[in-house]
Amino acid sequence: MASTTAPSPATKIPSAKPKSDKKLSDKTLKERAFRWDKLGAWLAAFFTLAAVVGLWALSRFKIDGYGRTGGDTVVGYILGGLTLILYGAVAAYSWRHKKRAQKRGMTRVWMEVHLAFGMVAGVSALLHSGPKLGAPIHGAFLIAWELLIITGIVGKLISVNVPRRLTRIEDEALLAEDVAERQKAMRLEIEQLLVDCNETLVNIVNVTIPSKIKAPAWYGKRRMKRGEVVEDVYKAIDGDGLIAKGAVPADKKDWLKRMVTCLVEEEFLDKMMTYHYVLRAWLPVHVALTTLCFPWLIFHVVTVFLI
Ligand code: HEM
Ligand code: HEM
Repeated sequence: MASTTAPSPATKIPSAKPKSDKKLSDKTLKERAFRWDKLGAWLAAFFTLAAVVGLWALSRFKIDGYGRTGGDTVVGYILGGLTLILYGAVAAYSWRHKKRAQKRGMTRVWMEVHLAFGMVAGVSALLHSGPKLGAPIHGAFLIAWELLIITGIVGKLISVNVPRRLTRIEDEALLAEDVAERQKAMRLEIEQLLVDCNETLVNIVNVTIPSKIKAPAWYGKRRMKRGEVVEDVYKAIDGDGLIAKGAVPADKKDWLKRMVTCLVEEEFLDKMMTYHYVLRAWLPVHVALTTLCFPWLIFHVVTVFLI
């Protein structure tokens, strides 16, 4: 690894890819083996989805006809009831998840059940309604419900992709707390390097250098070799030219190189922090929508039957 700062091993998230299969524990090998229970969960969800679409098609093309599908038909009631059951099954993951210390083995299967049946719940609610929004209070509920499903799907994509992007910046992804610590350390060093600097130097540090630092991905595979990135930025600001012109004193060449190093590192850490925010931000929205939809579901059922 060619990063410029060397965090202690204790601050790193363990690497996802063990280097040698010899070192894999029994548990890891078991996890790598083909998962029949995973396949079972997705197959069951697929058949449920086929039944949901089939029932709706029956209502639309045989029993009720165009424009008459909806919550108050026989198929509508079945799909509404099924959505209610799916909500219970999918939300049970949350409860299971909290108990994972006791029932570790189940968590991964429940996660698959959560993903697969959660998506089916999105389709069955949509087809239950017609699909149509109907009265505003029902329509708003359907929108909230679909947002719950969409945040789940987006969250799954985020939780798969963002850790990969993190490890492309630092070969072993740092925890958010460690990124914050390193950001603080970098800022402190930059502030110290700036002590007693004239306005021209401050301007070089605040404007010239940052304007030439690109996003980590821009550097391709070289982004892991920080030394090469620093050289790139040093060339882009024409560091030697700045010295030759006297904008930077000749005895400050090492200072300039170190400053570029710190600013590059700071930029990359900022990017990592953004990824960490994205990683954390979606789940509270997903959980808030879950919480919102529960009383709304009860309210919906009560209102459609009683009011
Ligand atoms: C997440 C779950 C659900 C969502 C998002 C949802 C959504 C909707 C929407 C948008 C409508 C309006 C469609 C229209 O005006 O024809 C509707 C109607 C209806 N829903 Fe649901 N629903 C859900 C669950 C349920 C459940 C569990 C039941 C009860 C078994 C139910 C019973 C009904 C009935 C009877 C209507 C017809 C109301 C009317 O025409 O005035 N729904 N639903
Ligand atoms: C009926 C629909 C859904 C409900 C009620 C629901 C509810 C929840 C709840 C309460 C949590 C928090 C679990 C915890 O931290 O203990 C959660 C987590 C999660 N949900 Fe959903 N969800 C639904 C649909 C979906 C869908 C369709 C997807 C993606 C396809 C999804 C993906 C996720 C993911 C990835 C997590 C984070 C799991 C983790 O990191 O442990 N959810 N969901």
